[in-house]
Amino acid sequence: YCIHVPSDTTAKALGADRVARLVEFFAEEHKLDMKVSRNSTRGLYWIEPLVEVDTEEGRYGFGPVKEGDIESLFTAEFWKGNVDHPLALGLVEEIPYLKRQERFTFSRLGITDPLSLEDYKANDGFKGLENAIRLSSQQIVDAVKESGLRGRGGAAFPTGIKWQTVLNVESPKNQKYIVCNADEGDSGTFADRLVMECDPFMLIEGMVIAGLAVGATQGYIYCRSEYPLSIENLNQAIKTAYENSFLGANILGSNNHFDLEVRMGAGAYICGEETSLLESLEGKRGLVRAKPPLPAIVGLFGQPTVVNNVLSLAAIPFIMDKGAKAYADVGVGRSRGTLPFQLTGNVKFGGLVELAFGPTLNELMYDFGGGTRSGRPLRAVQVGGPLGAYLHESQWDTSLGYEEFAQKEAVLGHGGVVMFDNTVDMSEQARFSMEFCVAESCGKCTPCRIGSTRGVEVIDRIRSGENVDGNLNLLADLCETMVDGSLCAMGGMTPFPVQSAMKYFREDFVKSTVSTA
Ligand code: NAI
Ligand code: SF4
Repeated sequence: YCIHVPSDTTAKALGADRVARLVEFFAEEHKLDMKVSRNSTRGLYWIEPLVEVDTEEGRYGFGPVKEGDIESLFTAEFWKGNVDHPLALGLVEEIPYLKRQERFTFSRLGITDPLSLEDYKANDGFKGLENAIRLSSQQIVDAVKESGLRGRGGAAFPTGIKWQTVLNVESPKNQKYIVCNADEGDSGTFADRLVMECDPFMLIEGMVIAGLAVGATQGYIYCRSEYPLSIENLNQAIKTAYENSFLGANILGSNNHFDLEVRMGAGAYICGEETSLLESLEGKRGLVRAKPPLPAIVGLFGQPTVVNNVLSLAAIPFIMDKGAKAYADVGVGRSRGTLPFQLTGNVKFGGLVELAFGPTLNELMYDFGGGTRSGRPLRAVQVGGPLGAYLHESQWDTSLGYEEFAQKEAVLGHGGVVMFDNTVDMSEQARFSMEFCVAESCGKCTPCRIGSTRGVEVIDRIRSGENVDGNLNLLADLCETMVDGSLCAMGGMTPFPVQSAMKYFREDFVKSTVSTA
């Protein structure tokens, strides 16, 4: 019998390692020929640790499994799959939360062993690279343009156009780079981590294809230090890829060459901003560079550089395997393909929900998320990380698309969705936004460095009931100055959550006495 227990950080944090060991222990006690495989997670976090068993009909699931449940699972002979047990979930692929998703990027999630090249290849792995290697650079770039893929880090710039810029520009030192931004820092996000921990070969494949597309022979993955398992799995997968001609000289027997290394960040949020990331990669302090010049033209060590988010690069193997049209065929308006949404905060069913753009935020939060975990009414939702606006109930019928959100003065960002029930104090959330900017500002420009500190002070005055109307006007002016005068998105977007909180939740600012936390 083959039993699957997930091995990603969240499942481990919920006790998956102990569950795996106990299953092995009980199997021995029961003298059963049972193999425990550590596959990746399905991303359905409310039922983790999710234990799956192989049967002829497919995989049956049991979850969430705690240490104390193992004995009763063995008594119920859970390895047979379709048995009577309070944790029995039936066929995993039939769980509506999973069945209703469109897992283009995450098609292997929860199915394969992250470090098994055989598993990866048996599930469409490296087919995109095999196709790409037969094409010219321009043909690859054209395919990415046709797919409609836009930067999944948050800014949604067309990936094909970025690649075209790097392809077209001459490199002074005949060296171009592919840099993967894996400094996933947005609150409530974990999709990049899932790629790196659970399907690292997919990212490697995407980066090699990017190298072929623009003529780059060196890649770096800049990963945050808070993701040790990502770094470990990436390094192991890179080693395997070198040993099997997917990296290094003569990729797949061709004349193409691509080297890849992982670099670890040191915990600064601003190093997720692309120019500051490049500074950090060069060994300097993570200070933001002025743009232009764009990194596509003057990037790492002054050379033309593609800087793409993990999810953008991870979408490439699908596009090069199934075709640009298959990707572009789904979505809404100019938002083509899928976005892996990450449902977190006060939510009943938190996890990864990869959907084609188009459904409404309400559908995501209720049909998938099931509303709040507390059972209290949902009051606010922040989409797009700590720099994203808070959305009020009147905006929840907005379709999940970049332009659709922009029309509501909101952003989709990297797909992080953090839900709050009606106990939230939105003036406190606004204060948190400014406080976050105080801590994470790189300090290069005044509106962000000083503005955020003044922002905290003004909000404190409002919260203590001091000249509320006057200070609200002052805060509105300060936000405008930060938006217009900041050098990068850190200072430029910090006001978004503050402005949205003031606009839609004004009552939380005008209360007579609130403590200044
Ligand atoms: P941006 O709009 O300045 O640039 C987007 C990308 O397009 C950059 O890589 C830029 O170099 C490139 N670009 C622009 N014009 C180009 C051209 N003509 N040719 C080639 N490349 C071109 O946005 P920025 O500052 O890079 O990112 C801001 C976004 O980052 C925000 O929208 C926010 O949602 C997101 N963000 C994501 C985080 C995460 O953890 N994933 C954390 C913080 C912010
Ligand atoms: Fe640095 Fe903030 Fe200015 Fe960005 S906006 S360059 S983080 S000081």
